[in-house]
Amino acid sequence: MATNALHRVGVIGGDGIGPEVVEAALEVLDSAGLRTEVERFSLGADAYLRDGTVLPDEVLEALRDVDAILLGAIGPPLGSHEVPSGLLERGLLLRLRFELDLYVNLRPAATPPNAPPPARPGLDVVVVRENTEGPYAGEGGFLRRGTPGEVATQGSVNTRHGVERCIRYAFELTRSRPRRKLTLVHKTNVLTYAGDLWARTFAELAPGYPEVETDYLHVDAACIHLVEHPERLDVVVTDNLFGDILTDLIGALTGGIGLAASANLNPARTGPSLFEPVHGAAHDIAGTGRANPLAAIRSAAMMADFLGEPEVAERVERAVAAVAADPTLAGAESLAVAGTSRITEAVVRRI
Ligand code: IPM
Ligand code: MN
Repeated sequence: MATNALHRVGVIGGDGIGPEVVEAALEVLDSAGLRTEVERFSLGADAYLRDGTVLPDEVLEALRDVDAILLGAIGPPLGSHEVPSGLLERGLLLRLRFELDLYVNLRPAATPPNAPPPARPGLDVVVVRENTEGPYAGEGGFLRRGTPGEVATQGSVNTRHGVERCIRYAFELTRSRPRRKLTLVHKTNVLTYAGDLWARTFAELAPGYPEVETDYLHVDAACIHLVEHPERLDVVVTDNLFGDILTDLIGALTGGIGLAASANLNPARTGPSLFEPVHGAAHDIAGTGRANPLAAIRSAAMMADFLGEPEVAERVERAVAAVAADPTLAGAESLAVAGTSRITEAVVRRI
């Protein structure tokens, strides 16, 4: 049962298949009884080409005011020359993550039964990705750009405060899971400054959580373990860029990126959190009705949970799990063939 509370949700459909999958997710939340008041924001490549703006300050202020944000996808068509590379990613998505202090990017993934290869049975992980620092902070620059002697530097920002709050969140989450195992993933043998800060902070927090088993993997080895020994991993805590890369791999290994959900959380709740599928705009299938909405639907379930509606989240999750395991629909290929509306209807029917 949903509570009687009315939740104000800011919706950014964005680009490509974003608007289609987000509308499907809203339909599912509605069918699960969640009471929402939706405010739609027109942002993304189309809005940029139309008015030349990426995230106007007054829109950011309006977004600060909602209870949660549901986002589809941001990104211009590949090879588009009208929108400079990185402009929307940095100016919209990353700006929201930074301005709203969404310091945890939570990405849970588990392989559904019967998922065809490359899915790995037995993989059931949650990645806690640091979401406001690392190489994403944008530190760096050019010297003598465009000359034969040009220099480009790209730094990685790691603060004790940022690393500690992310790792603390991961310990808290891990102790609520049945397996209670937390793996730090980094590259401490090469990134000896940032890696040292992460490893030291991890080691300092661990004694406060004696019930949590801890482990460490270099990021390259973590890739092998995900494929060969998926049962070794439960909760992973890692740097922003490693988390980005690992969660695409995990998406492919847990039934396809079409299922991969994420929550950009402000655990301190000083403002709204933002929920989005891990996949991008997929312009090649936009408007064809073939987009798989399950990742957006699962992200919406995470939103319901964070809004204090765990029963709604649970019902949606269970319905998605049933659809993802349905042999007539399951598998990346069949889901694309089934199409957005058939999959959405199947989820709504099971709810
Ligand atoms: C993701 C995306 C973003 C990221 C891009 C669109 C900036 O790949 O959410 O994983 O790199 O974080
Ligand atoms: Mn990514």
